[in-house]
Amino acid sequence: MTEARNRIVSGKASDEDARIEASVRPASFSDYIGQERVKENLQISVEAARARGEALDHVLLYGPPGLGKTTLAQILANEMGSSIKISSGPLLEKKGDLTAVLTSLDPGDFLFLDEIHRLQPALEEILYPAMEDFRIDLVIGQGPGARIHPYQLNQFTLVGATTRAGLLMAPLRSRFGIVHRLDFYTPQDLFQIVQRSARILGIAIDDAGAEEIARRSRGTPRVANRLLRRVRDFAEVRADGHVTKDVAREALAMLGVDEHGLDEVDRNLLLTIINKYSGGPVGLNTIAASLSEEEDAIEEMYEPYLMQLGLLDRTQRGRVATALAYKHFGMDEPHKQPPLFRTASSEE
Ligand SMILES: Nc1ncnc2c1ncn2[C@@H]1O[C@H](COP(=O)(O)OP(=O)(O)OP(=O)(O)O)[C@@H](O)[C@H]1O
Ligand SMILES: [Mg+2]
Repeated sequence: MTEARNRIVSGKASDEDARIEASVRPASFSDYIGQERVKENLQISVEAARARGEALDHVLLYGPPGLGKTTLAQILANEMGSSIKISSGPLLEKKGDLTAVLTSLDPGDFLFLDEIHRLQPALEEILYPAMEDFRIDLVIGQGPGARIHPYQLNQFTLVGATTRAGLLMAPLRSRFGIVHRLDFYTPQDLFQIVQRSARILGIAIDDAGAEEIARRSRGTPRVANRLLRRVRDFAEVRADGHVTKDVAREALAMLGVDEHGLDEVDRNLLLTIINKYSGGPVGLNTIAASLSEEEDAIEEMYEPYLMQLGLLDRTQRGRVATALAYKHFGMDEPHKQPPLFRTASSEE
């Protein structure tokens, strides 16, 4: 099941994924489906900046993986008629790495920093004056003789993306003039996304087939595009190449994707809480250990969708499987017993 999991839910795109994602990635607002509120706000910001002949204010985009943050960053640059340079928090290791990127920006350029919550604190400090005054302080020389030399950068727009806005330090967050959260897509939006991708990739699919895939895509365009391709493979090998409702249903069942779009890891996660920890609360680290998964992966990729479906709650004391989760598995929710043993003081 690891295979299906890596290819379907995983946030990180394989090389082949990346190539195909690029081919179906919308390049303008008019091709970007859904997220209407965010889109409308960004369109206004772009128009206003263009009318003033200024660089667009810095933009922070956050939300679960695969919802279109990178796509939006590229659309913003396109709509402003600008070029975009792409880097990421973990990729920039030394101060010099970030300085080199910043000094290479031409007037009006976009800099996209993915996983900005993983930027090192020392580098974050370089960003503050860069974002605010388009200035960096170069340190020339070493030791007592070192001098600070202010260096003027060209005006640029930083687009930061993160799956974990909560991990972003307040001083960094507050330097973004435009902040938007991306939400899971509706099945109707995903239906259009599946149809659009099928058109681009030359996949024969009928409405009912597209609907089936859309409904089981965890509210996530990246997952929809992955499922579409896997279902196409199935259609070519086991049917006449056409994706119909029946073909989609059979293919998705074989991939271990259920009616709600849950895969094996989702189910194991809930069943672990239910069976091993009587429904919770149980700590994230305990769940991660018992599933042999990374805590980050659980927190970023699996939990948001389970919470959206109302199957999981995050509480102060840990994760809890909801009544709906029991129902999902056709199980009865246990009656929580009062503690069997009470201390003498609590008796009184
Ligand atoms: N609104 C949309 N309309 C159509 N396709 C979309 C939309 N949003 C995203 N996609 C598709 O989903 C894929 C994933 O989107 P993208 O790479 O922008 O996600 P992301 O939020 O940057 O993910 P991550 O957090 O993993 O970096 C893209 O290939 C793109 O084709
Ligand atoms: Mg991205």
